[in-house]
Amino acid sequence: MRLPSPPRVPVPSFTARLHDPRTATVIGRWLGIAVAVCFVTGLISHVLQHPPEALVPLLPSRPAWGYRLSQGLHVASGTAAIPLLVAKLWTVYPKLFAQPVVRSVRHALERLSVAAMVAAAVFELFSGLLNIVQWYPWPFSFVPVHFAVAWVLVGALLVHVAVKAPDITAHWSRRSPEVRALAAADGPDRRSLLAGLAAAVGAVTLVTVGQSFTPLKRFDLLAPRHPDRGPQALPVNRTAAAAGVTGVSAGRWRLAVTGPRPYEIGLAELRAMPQHTVTLPIACVEGWSRSAEWTGVRIRDLLERAGAPPGARLRVVSLEGHGAYRVMEMGQGYARDPLTLLALRINGEVLSPDHGFPARIIAPNRPGVLQTKWVARLEVL
Ligand code: HEM
Repeated sequence: MRLPSPPRVPVPSFTARLHDPRTATVIGRWLGIAVAVCFVTGLISHVLQHPPEALVPLLPSRPAWGYRLSQGLHVASGTAAIPLLVAKLWTVYPKLFAQPVVRSVRHALERLSVAAMVAAAVFELFSGLLNIVQWYPWPFSFVPVHFAVAWVLVGALLVHVAVKAPDITAHWSRRSPEVRALAAADGPDRRSLLAGLAAAVGAVTLVTVGQSFTPLKRFDLLAPRHPDRGPQALPVNRTAAAAGVTGVSAGRWRLAVTGPRPYEIGLAELRAMPQHTVTLPIACVEGWSRSAEWTGVRIRDLLERAGAPPGARLRVVSLEGHGAYRVMEMGQGYARDPLTLLALRINGEVLSPDHGFPARIIAPNRPGVLQTKWVARLEVL
């Protein structure tokens, strides 16, 4: 008996002209730049937040605005990459229906690298987006997974660019014969698609970048944070109530400083020490940042009083009962920087509980999560 032959899966036919290598190359260039900026700034953020032991003494505390710029760029380039990725995938999706699906072992490996690249790109951009709105609908820890998948994306992207190198070179320049032939057939279509995409990227950037680039803050319509909104006109990520630090009494609070000559000091004595005022940003890992004027005591003065040797590192412990950043360490470059303060005031006012009353750390070129609030103890290491 003859078995019925399996039903034939119809292969769709794609007639739109813009699913071609020139469009893939032009959008690929923009996407490649956005991914490269995102990757480099992501590495900077990772090293500043979780430095390997050997790098701790080498981390620079200058330029003071360094982390603000790099993390602002990270979130802006990641956000701009979302419309670019959607446009790129629209351009190339007919290739995913090409028959036969697998031609050889080499071809199968190349298909696998494309699958890994697309999955990693979608995961990175959307997990980053959900992170900046502080929504974590997954069971794993964001930072290590986002960091690991970034390497998968970059590795697979390098393979992709190498595999497509002949197509990319042939369609890179507007003057190449292949591009001229395509342009003759398209008329203005490609220019309209690319102009529309550039407008979408520009619009997404304009309505979000004001969260860190304050000259554009009045256009900040869609970013999760507005740089002026928050207690004492500065946003906070973790309030005193969320951290479980409420009802700290100015009279009873004592700062413990451990070291060769340990001591304890109260708020009134700290206020009587030489006060310094610095202008430094709080630059959040989630991309928003805002400068403020901070007044307080230099950390290096407090360490000298404890007899700390010049190369000593510092551990800072907060009053918070729990939380990933309850304990923070800084290398001697930060601890000795004259801009690094135990801040007691913000813009001339006593710190509010949400900004870390009675005392918080403020240091140059540091992620916001390391600007420890509600400081209880300084330990000379
Ligand atoms: C995250 C970044 C990127 C993603 C997710 C991506 C995704 C893709 C996918 C899924 C394909 C179809 C592959 C196939 O089935 O053979 C493709 C094709 C292609 N990509 Fe990319 N790509 C990216 C970056 C780039 C870059 C940086 C360039 C170069 C500037 C580029 C240039 C091309 C070219 C020339 C093709 C072939 C198009 C064709 O034959 O019609 N891509 N890309």
